[in-house]
Amino acid sequence: MKIAVFASGRGTNLAAIIKAKSKGLINADIALVVSDNKKALALKKAQRAGIKAVFVDPQRFLTMPEFENEIVKAVEAEGIDLIVLAGFMRILSSDFVSRFQNKIINIHPAILPSFKGSQAIKDAYEFGIKVTGVTVHFVDNEMDNGPIILQKAVPIDEADTLETLESKIHKVEHKIYPEAIKLFIEGRLKIEGRKVKIV
Ligand code: GAR
Repeated sequence: MKIAVFASGRGTNLAAIIKAKSKGLINADIALVVSDNKKALALKKAQRAGIKAVFVDPQRFLTMPEFENEIVKAVEAEGIDLIVLAGFMRILSSDFVSRFQNKIINIHPAILPSFKGSQAIKDAYEFGIKVTGVTVHFVDNEMDNGPIILQKAVPIDEADTLETLESKIHKVEHKIYPEAIKLFIEGRLKIEGRKVKIV
């Protein structure tokens, strides 16, 4: 099994996945890291771990299909079985998603379908809810929408600031993303409509 991780930012989830592999939890080759951001720390983390790291510059392409086509080429050249979105802050087209149908997963820092979008932790914190969490899901044609693989709740305490909540959420992310990847690799995820059965 070969995995590609797409990331636009710090790459702490990428680092957690690399660590899980080095501990033997994930039995797959992390073969490729793709970023749309030249300055993404994720690219540096990949290089340091000896993983092929590719920056695809959105500015170089006139259209979204051309940009995505460049990514498709990189993914297909490596024979990737699973695409892991880890803070990849771009919505993939339905063409891209159907090309890799049921082979793309995403992590989102809230209990979906609540608080979709790119500011989920802040939105949940400011809304004043008492429990938020993390979701790992398959990617479909709508943003933060596909069948849910794993969810874990994170309580918001009165003493929490946005920063402490962020750090609680990230800690949970770093635990459950490798778990979800492991389930995928072991062929234990069965999609039935909107539901994912762990077999
Ligand atoms: C993570 O918190 C992830 O859940 C979030 O981006 C962060 C990336 O952090 N993704 C989304 O909000 C997607 N809607 P990282 O670069 O340190 O892994």
